[in-house]
Amino acid sequence: MRLVVLISGRGSNLAALLSAAAAGTLPARVVGVLANCADAPGLETASAAGVPTRALDHRLFADREAFDTALAEAIDGFAPDLVVLAGFMRILGDRFVRRYAGRLINIHPSLLPAFPGLHTHRRALAEGVRVHGCTVHFVTPELDHGPIIVQAAVPVLDTDDEAALAARVLAQEHRIYPLAIRWFADGRLRLCDGRVLLASVQSDGGVLIAPQLVAV
Ligand code: GAR
Repeated sequence: MRLVVLISGRGSNLAALLSAAAAGTLPARVVGVLANCADAPGLETASAAGVPTRALDHRLFADREAFDTALAEAIDGFAPDLVVLAGFMRILGDRFVRRYAGRLINIHPSLLPAFPGLHTHRRALAEGVRVHGCTVHFVTPELDHGPIIVQAAVPVLDTDDEAALAARVLAQEHRIYPLAIRWFADGRLRLCDGRVLLASVQSDGGVLIAPQLVAV
């Protein structure tokens, strides 16, 4: 299965996917990495792994539609089976999202639908939630919204600051993103009429909250 990964920054989720693929636990190949800024550190991670990269600076385009069109052309040049948003911090327009319906997924650092948008860990601490986490979901035109594939939960500790909580969540992101993509690669996961269908799920004993469990 061919993956194109879209990033804007650090690329630690990209790195987790690359190492899962290299270790043979993810039956997929990252065939291209695209960023909306040329200085995204994750581009170096991709290059070091021998993956072709391209940067498309969104500031050089007249409007969102023009950027989305160029981005789609770049993506399609890699002929991916699945488009993976991994810390891609640009809002994508309706037309773009519809073009990749059912093969465009995102990871978000909260238990959606709580805390869409930015600064999720800071907001979770400010609200005093006791449980926080991350979500992998199919992308729909509404920001940080869409059918949920899998979530992982972590406790919020009294001693937590933003950095400590972010690190605890990020460790789970690196676990559930390769897992969700493996389901897709194995043909067990798909989007059907706006619902997530998953053939069956083996919990690995971690902190998974039940994914959508519907037989394909
Ligand atoms: C991750 O925490 C990811 O969940 C988040 O950006 C970070 C990227 O880190 N994405 C979003 O907030 C999307 N709404 P990374 O570059 O190290 O993978």
